Amino acid sequence: EKGGHEYFMLKEIEEQPTALADTLRGHFVDGRIILDEQRLSDQDLRDVDKVFVVACGTAYHSGLVAKYAIEHWTRLPVEVELASEFRYRDPVLDRDTLVVAVSQSGETADTLEAVRHAREQKARVLAVCNTNGAQIPRESDAVLYTHAGPEVGVASTKTFLAQIAAIYLVGLALAQARGTKYPDEVGREFEELCAMPDAVARVLSTVDRVRELGRSLADAKAVLFLGRHVGYPVALEGALKLKELAYMHAEGFAAGELKHGPIALIEESLPVVVVMPSPKGRAVLHAKLLSNISEIQARGARTIVIAEEGDETVRPFADELVEVPAVPTLLQPLVSTVPLQVLAAEIARARGYDVDKPRNLAKSVTVE
Ligand code: F6R
Repeated sequence: EKGGHEYFMLKEIEEQPTALADTLRGHFVDGRIILDEQRLSDQDLRDVDKVFVVACGTAYHSGLVAKYAIEHWTRLPVEVELASEFRYRDPVLDRDTLVVAVSQSGETADTLEAVRHAREQKARVLAVCNTNGAQIPRESDAVLYTHAGPEVGVASTKTFLAQIAAIYLVGLALAQARGTKYPDEVGREFEELCAMPDAVARVLSTVDRVRELGRSLADAKAVLFLGRHVGYPVALEGALKLKELAYMHAEGFAAGELKHGPIALIEESLPVVVVMPSPKGRAVLHAKLLSNISEIQARGARTIVIAEEGDETVRPFADELVEVPAVPTLLQPLVSTVPLQVLAAEIARARGYDVDKPRNLAKSVTVE
């Protein structure tokens, strides 16, 4: 049942191309993005003037990634909030607010309460969920299902990638309804998304090397993760995976914040994972991150760099280099997260922990 793998999580990591393809399938028909149980009309989507994404844990990170794409495509303000904070903070909501509730299980208590609160305030709620008929989709105005299949490993992997793809579809549906993108542009973005299962499959072909790298990190006291732009939520997700699986102190930072405190943590041989942007995308981001890596390397950190294939400029700063295929900037999280998942799982395994069932955690958190 583990498909020849030692643990479910590795099987589920390898299922990511399929999870992505299945989540995208059937959502572009006759030149238009279509959502699933679309109880929201095109007019409802046109009226949206603000988007909130509410979720917990890894699902929250998928929202952080999607914020960059939705704002870019739709010119709508997008706020991403931990469901447990949103609920108790009296957020400003009305019928023109779209609340996207993201939950693999569809049963997470905090996210469910956030949905209920949003609906009481007359906001429209769209659920992104991996579980048919769960409570959150039942209580939402509309649902878009991720088709990642059942996830057994407690740590979310394939559902994270599927969540990003699904929220991107919501972003494209909004752009289409609002006319902030021409239909052929929407079609092109969808096509680029459809190329991602192959790109992720290419990343998976390097898994053995990343596992080896993971084993070499098993004795580290802590690991830091740095990224900018869409690489920032990827850094947060890499750190979360490592905390929950390997019980290791791990933290993700926006690389631009280094100088504002975290650089004080850098010491001899501390592993620092850096998620590089493409050198062909935003050149300024790439240059800034290069300078961040050189600063931490100069202070003796062991740099582990996730970078685009063929990015030669990064080599001198990378003690370890993990290459991922070149993809459009907004889609980079779909490739750069994968080595971080493998790294966390392998470090945990090397430390002798049960990768599928980390201590103190449950797959679905039904208490607040
Ligand atoms: C981390 C993880 C959790 C969940 C979170 C939300 O690997 O799995 O952080 O992402 O508990 O769960 P759902 O998506 O079911 O609402």
